[in-house]
Amino acid sequence: MHAELRRVTSAAGYSEDAGTLLILSCGAEDISTILSYLPGPHPPIDTLISILTICSIPSPQATICALITEVLKPGGQVLFYEHVLSDRKDVAWWQRFWTPLWSIVFGGCRLDCPAHRWIEDVGGWVQGEGGVWGKEGEPEEHLFWHRVGRYIKAG
Ligand SMILES: C[S@@+](CC[C@H](N)C(=O)[O-])C[C@H]1O[C@@H](n2cnc3c(N)ncnc32)[C@H](O)[C@@H]1O
Repeated sequence: MHAELRRVTSAAGYSEDAGTLLILSCGAEDISTILSYLPGPHPPIDTLISILTICSIPSPQATICALITEVLKPGGQVLFYEHVLSDRKDVAWWQRFWTPLWSIVFGGCRLDCPAHRWIEDVGGWVQGEGGVWGKEGEPEEHLFWHRVGRYIKAG
């Protein structure tokens, strides 16, 4: 996706040449490398965005927790749009059933990640702001059950 990122960010006026865009080649789970590119000890990261990515990263729960606690600054926000483990037992059963085969075929993508709950469980969020929403018009029994969310880290 790096070429696409460069294309859309350039259209918005950001570029690596100008020092206004930084694209890292490491995985999201490589927190020490990410931190090594950011000014410490408190990185000025005000927004973490994940779009259909948590399903594919190794150790997703630990990675989410580390990114929020170590990389995101107080007052910063997490925005996400992910397909997640369904709240319905019957749908969740099928998601768990298909995940071993699905993840082999689709580059490690898992259908059984409760990403929205993992993010909420990190805790320390500003109460009464943000939240989690569904995808408009999406049926409940969908194997790709999406959640959209926004959380703000307490200062
Ligand atoms: C289903 S694709 C979604 C791509 C894009 N976000 C979109 O919505 O079209 C999953 C993405 O997860 C990325 N990915 C896989 N492993 C990753 C990791 N360890 N850290 C960060 N991203 C990873 C892949 O490069 C891929 O772009």
